[in-house]
Amino acid sequence: MNDTGSTLTHLEGALSGTAYPADELMGPDPADRRPLLARYDIEKAARTLTAESLSGRRSAGLWRWAELLPVRDRRHVVYLGEGDTPLLAQHRLGEALGVPHLATKAEGLNPTGSFKARGMAVAVSRAVELGVTSFIAPSAGNAAGALAAYGAAAGAQVTVLTPVDATPVNQQEVLAMGARLILVEGLISDCGRISTALAGRIGAFDVSTLKEPYRVEGKKTMGFELAEQRGWRLPDVIVYPTGGGTGLVGMWKAFDELEALGLTGPERPRMVSVQSEGCAPIVRAFEAGERFAEPWKDARTRASGIRVPSAVGDFLILGALRESGGTAVAVSEDSISEMQAFAGRMGAGYVSPESAAALAAVPSLRDRGEVGRDDEVVVFDCGVGQKYPPPRYLPEPPVVDPADLDINALAQSLR
Ligand SMILES: Cc1ncc(COP(=O)(O)O)c(C=O)c1O
Repeated sequence: MNDTGSTLTHLEGALSGTAYPADELMGPDPADRRPLLARYDIEKAARTLTAESLSGRRSAGLWRWAELLPVRDRRHVVYLGEGDTPLLAQHRLGEALGVPHLATKAEGLNPTGSFKARGMAVAVSRAVELGVTSFIAPSAGNAAGALAAYGAAAGAQVTVLTPVDATPVNQQEVLAMGARLILVEGLISDCGRISTALAGRIGAFDVSTLKEPYRVEGKKTMGFELAEQRGWRLPDVIVYPTGGGTGLVGMWKAFDELEALGLTGPERPRMVSVQSEGCAPIVRAFEAGERFAEPWKDARTRASGIRVPSAVGDFLILGALRESGGTAVAVSEDSISEMQAFAGRMGAGYVSPESAAALAAVPSLRDRGEVGRDDEVVVFDCGVGQKYPPPRYLPEPPVVDPADLDINALAQSLR
């Protein structure tokens, strides 16, 4: 009666290939501490997960893809409206950047203002199904907000660790939703080490990026939606601001699952990872032809979500970039700030610095010949700009006193 129709069969070590039972609470692969990936009975899923059945499942957000999600009992689904974000054509911005067929996936419209909601919705729901009542995670900020929201909705306790300079809005939202916040004098990697050490000691389940199998399942729905929104045709290029890389890894998995379902063919988009010049471990490893990425020392960027010096899923990210014929690009801090203001002026909304980084990579991809004018390009606009300190290059607004206003002078200045 409450069966979601999930066809989850087992978990598989992404590096070790070892199979594990699906219905036990699992962290990373016990064999190598690398990510575990969920596997499904796709043949069974294909019987009910069709283009027609999906279009009849409105108002369930990402849970429309239930057959390829891990939660088995509907009563455990914690739904706050995540998923089904629009794919927006960006004609003016695209023309200005040399790619007229540009679209952005507006992930800031998810609950808590970023795509982190997708991963946390699925990870929290599934963990609650397996008996978890307390969660812990390190975060740059947006994942903390999302975990606080889903944890509160599930009635679970949440503890989050963020760098001490995480944006004040992120800190406030976490506290307002009743989570326990610990500020760490360091980077997200330091938060991660403390989170893992605390988890066992306080009886909390560690939902760090790719250290449990289901956040990536939530994030893969971005790939499903993209295909559906484009009439089951994938774009030529996907540009993704990359920190831990969960969304990129998730979408790459989603494309295989869609092909196995018979909804799309063997063609794949070229996947592009974008990082900041101040923290670019994936770009460096990509360029050096390495399978794994060395941790980045002294990581700095105002795009805090991509200030990730070392990613557990590095080999999965690098594998997807190479297999897809894609690439990895580092952008300057100046270009991130400039693009935040430029994208806004071009009608793309007030985007986060991470989204701006992804957009800022487009002109250099054009210059390098990696993206052509006729390519259909989708840039992931992962979160809203409102949570961050403002970009530089904003004009200073005039302040007027209504009691002492020279309206003609004001009008003159605005002409
Ligand atoms: C707005 C935003 N964009 C991009 C990222 C990077 O996401 P991922 O860890 O999937 O690479 C984050 C992560 O915090 C984020 O908050």
